[in-house]
Amino acid sequence: MIYIPLKHLRPGMTLARDIACGSSLFPLLVAGQKLSVSIIAKFEKNNISGAYIESSLCGDVEIEEIVAPELRQKTIVELKSFYRDYESHAPISPASLKSISSTVDNLVEHILSKSECLINIIDVQDYDTYTYNHSLYVCILSILIGIQRGFSRSILTELGMCGLLHDIGKTDIPLEIINKKSVLTPQEFELMKTHPDKAVIRLSPCHQISSSVLRGILSHHEKFNGTGYPQGLSGEKIPLYGRIVALADVYDALTSHRSYRKAWTSGDAIEYMMGCADTHFDFELLQSFLKIIAVYPLGTVVKLSNGFLAVVIQNSSQNILRPKVRVLLPEEYTGTEIDLADIGNTYLNVTISGVADDEMEIPEVLFV
Ligand SMILES: [Fe+2]
Repeated sequence: MIYIPLKHLRPGMTLARDIACGSSLFPLLVAGQKLSVSIIAKFEKNNISGAYIESSLCGDVEIEEIVAPELRQKTIVELKSFYRDYESHAPISPASLKSISSTVDNLVEHILSKSECLINIIDVQDYDTYTYNHSLYVCILSILIGIQRGFSRSILTELGMCGLLHDIGKTDIPLEIINKKSVLTPQEFELMKTHPDKAVIRLSPCHQISSSVLRGILSHHEKFNGTGYPQGLSGEKIPLYGRIVALADVYDALTSHRSYRKAWTSGDAIEYMMGCADTHFDFELLQSFLKIIAVYPLGTVVKLSNGFLAVVIQNSSQNILRPKVRVLLPEEYTGTEIDLADIGNTYLNVTISGVADDEMEIPEVLFV
């Protein structure tokens, strides 16, 4: 399979993966379905930026998600229910906290059972349920960073809880501010900055939530150089969970499609985050983060510095910038595989110079 940006999708192409639909148990579209003009229009309507398509040249490229779709949907259903209870302003019940904590523990168990803990997929889904999907991804990414750091299972579950609930305080911020498409006024931003405090005030009477989780939620907008909020903490004075969730939060926000901008590619988001090492982020944790994200996810069409067009067929957490690729063009090299990380290969000076986007022409040879 191969990932094709929306602009290059054509009627007759075959979907290679289901397209999830928020928290619904049923996908928006299922693998095997042929694209039609109306389906492509549906993609546009749902802000879906592209899709995985079947291609005989990449028939062997299989993509496994870090969390199985059923578990992902179950977690979102659980999270929605928790948000509903929270928004009702009734006291938070120990039972609902226990339930959400055991769901996070299931996620940790599931992720720990994987042999390769690498996010290797472009998230393809509708964005109607951004808050829940974002919270889930921040949870998953935080757990993966924790695994890189060698945390115990119980700490991973706490960290996952912190990721899952980090933005719950936003439910107490007016929706017109949350959904505003333009820049917030200074007054609106001051109000927005209260969401970590608001969450901690509501959650701290719950004995099932540890003080470490509360401190993590409170500090997920702190910056390493002390310019964040709400307390302006710097360096290692920022609680560890807060420093980890900050990385996951920024990465997922940048790579998600929003109403006011397109989703960034994984590579662009990582480039930006590396530029913020030691100002926004803890550099050591950023190094761990870079081991869990494929800069060029499997099935991505890339342009090489020697002018070749190729598709990513294998990634390794050891070298996220130099995957193994299969050449698409020029035709005399079609099918040739190049391991960009292999120091013995004759293409060692070749690098990836770009990722297929709406502007890059994608050859028809891929779709036969
Ligand atoms: Fe936040």
